[in-house]
Amino acid sequence: MTGLASRFFASALIYAVLGMTLGLVMGMTEDHAQMPTHAHMLVVGWVSFALFGFFYHLFPAAAKSRLAAAHFWLAEASLLIMLAGLVQIFMGRTEAGQPFAAAGSTGLLASMILFAIVAWPSVRRA
Ligand code: HEM
Ligand code: HEM
Repeated sequence: MTGLASRFFASALIYAVLGMTLGLVMGMTEDHAQMPTHAHMLVVGWVSFALFGFFYHLFPAAAKSRLAAAHFWLAEASLLIMLAGLVQIFMGRTEAGQPFAAAGSTGLLASMILFAIVAWPSVRRA
């Protein structure tokens, strides 16, 4: 695995470790307030980013486009921003967290649309 594929997969590994650590802390403290943060860190950060890594590994031509690079940076930045919002919202700092959650989730959706545009031709060819 090289290039964009390995960068997506490496970030997925980091989110897996961070997300499971948060889950463990939630379990040990019996405070599940950050459950949505934990859930999205793992289902988006670990599962979805790992899938992107595998996709770009299987379709290296798609990984070379500028749109694919834009997908990577927008997805990575948006997830960080969305998580920064979720942490604050579920700490009780709703007003501080909302702009981050709104910007991050909008960016994440935009990044998914970019990915659909990048991936669609490969899927049709396959
Ligand atoms: C060390 C491993 C893990 C621990 C200790 C852990 C712990 C937890 C805890 C304490 C909750 C809150 C449950 C509740 O309040 O109802 C939770 C929810 C959740 N976890 Fe984990 N988790 C782990 C791994 C994972 C992984 C690997 C994923 C996904 C790939 C995941 C996805 C979720 C989701 C989606 C929820 C929300 C479930 C719901 O909506 O009811 N977790 N986890
Ligand atoms: C634009 C990005 C997204 C937004 C704005 C969003 C928003 C939300 C909201 C508002 C909830 C309900 C939380 C609650 O009731 O406390 C939720 C739950 C959930 N979402 Fe997302 N989501 C996004 C992306 C995703 C993606 C890509 C996945 C899967 C790959 C996912 C999986 C889940 C799961 C498993 C739950 C249930 C766990 C929980 O309640 O925290 N979400 N999401």
